[in-house]
Order: sequence, then structure tokens, then C-alpha cells
Amino acid sequence: MSDKPRILVTRRHLAEVEARLNRDYDVVLNKGDKIMTAKQIIARAKGADALFICVTEPLDKKTIAALPKSVQAILTLSVGTDHIDLAAAGKRGLAVLTTPDAVTAATAEIGMLLLLGAARRAHESSRYLRSGKWETWSPTQFVGVEITGKPLGILGMGRIGRTVAERARGFEMRVHYRNRNRLAPELEGNAVYFNDLEGFLGASEFLILCAPSTPETQGFINKETIALLPDGAIVVNIARGDLVDDDALIAALKSGKITAAGLDVYNGEPANIDSRYFKLPNAFLVPHIGSAAEQARTAMGMMLLDGFDALRAGEPVANRVV
Ligand code: DGY
Repeated sequence: MSDKPRILVTRRHLAEVEARLNRDYDVVLNKGDKIMTAKQIIARAKGADALFICVTEPLDKKTIAALPKSVQAILTLSVGTDHIDLAAAGKRGLAVLTTPDAVTAATAEIGMLLLLGAARRAHESSRYLRSGKWETWSPTQFVGVEITGKPLGILGMGRIGRTVAERARGFEMRVHYRNRNRLAPELEGNAVYFNDLEGFLGASEFLILCAPSTPETQGFINKETIALLPDGAIVVNIARGDLVDDDALIAALKSGKITAAGLDVYNGEPANIDSRYFKLPNAFLVPHIGSAAEQARTAMGMMLLDGFDALRAGEPVANRVV
């Protein structure tokens, strides 16, 4: 038996991350990259010191309780933790490590892509071009709205929200935000804090969701909040699908109350996304690719393994959430 720590790795990873996993640890791999059931995870975790998982492996209370006693840590390749019952993990004495910082720039970039793509009708125009129907340039074709100089409301001013704010300032957007707490002046910059929901939404000609999924944020976009947005607002979600009530958003995209939406995350993703979105020309959709950049995905893996090594050495672990 190897004296290296044993890690169950539930998915395939980028080459650099897999090389380190293979070199420094006794790894149980999932070469086929097929999503593992909770039962398979529990069985294959036998003798493992840690699980190296993704958002595709929900670890609920029951699964955590059934994990072999050898498991000391859960390393999740995500900044979000809504797929893990953190309280149950804590109760069992498991450490949970995540990937803050590593995802920030990449996810903020996708936020900007979605703001621009929704505002400038990227999906519709690209699809039209590929259809072979484009015959002539036209002053009236695919006319969108500029984001330059527009007000941008940011829900959730954590690392990602603040980085979106910085990028948006490059487009001269006027940023305001809503957050659990008002930020310290050095983090706030010139973003305007709104304590009241009506004021925040009323000013959000553009709105981007950057907050984690919590009982306070789930269903944030609903019939009532949409009514408070300016007519023709543009809504972007790079957070989690459950911040949005799909019936309400789809109705607003159909009526024109919301001009366009840019979405990276969905309720029921990937198999059970509300398919009505697919038929909406004003929905610019990408498949949960916020952190899907080479630098980010490599940094995420390295951060987890650095943290795990530090944990084993009894050193402080900055990316430990439990
Ligand atoms: C995250 O970091 O939480 C992403 O949504 C998936 O990795």
C-alpha cells in the first residue's frame, strides 16, 4: 500500500492538475468521467483521506454520514458550496476546501460576456449569420443597446461582484449594489450601496446576479422583483440557477418587460433546464462556463491540493470553509 494520501477524484481534470494528482497522491480515478452516484462515491471512497469533487457531486447529509471513516476532507472544485451539506460535514469533523479567488477573473469575464451578448443580441445575430440568410447590411438589423455609461446593479458584492464592477467601469457603467452588508470604503470604490430593494431594482437598467445561493437569495428574480425593474431591463445570472424563478423571467422575456437575459446557470441544470429558454431569441445562454478557462481551472485544482497539503501538515488553510 502507498504511503501517499489517498484521494478519490470524481471527475477528469486539466492535464496539469491530473499530473500533480498522479504524482503526489494515491488516486482513485474516474477515467470515464461518468457522473458517480452517491452510492458509488461512498463505495469508492473506502480508505480515502479526501474526496476531490465538483458541483456535479451533491453531498447531502445522508451521503456525508455514510462516507468511510477514513475521509477527512472534501475538496470541491468550486467557490459555491450549495451542493454540500456544510453543517453535516462540520458535524462529522470533515474539512471542506473550496476555490475562492481562483475563479474570480474568469467568472467576471463571463459576466461581461453575458452583459454584452444579451445587450447586443449576440445569439440572434450569430445564429442568423450561420443560417446563410444574411443578404445585406442594414441600418435596422439586430439593433441592441449599448452598455456603455448605463447603470449596472450588482446583487452580491463578494470577490466576483467587485471584479465585475471593476470591469464594468471600463465600460463607464455606473455601478450600484446590494449586499448582505455595506462594503468598507476601500472595497466599495465608487459603487453606490442600496439598502432598500425598491431603490436597488428601480435603478437597475442592467442587473447582474453574483450572490451565492442562500435562503435569502433563492428566488430573488420573481414576478414582484421584475415589476420593480425599469422597463426593458437586461438581466444576467452568473450565480446559481435557483436565484431565478423561471416562469417569471420567461414571461418577462416574452412580454418585453425584460429586453434580454444572459444566463450561465439554471434551475435543474444540465438535464432539466426549462426548455422554453431555448426558443427565446432574447436569451443569450451558455452552459455554466463561468470558471471554464485554462488558468482558472488549473489554479482551482492547485489551490485545493495546496490546501489539502497544508491541512495534513497542520498549517493554516485559507480556503477552508468548514
Ligand atoms: C463555482 O466555482 O462554484 C462554479 O459554479 C463551478 O465550479
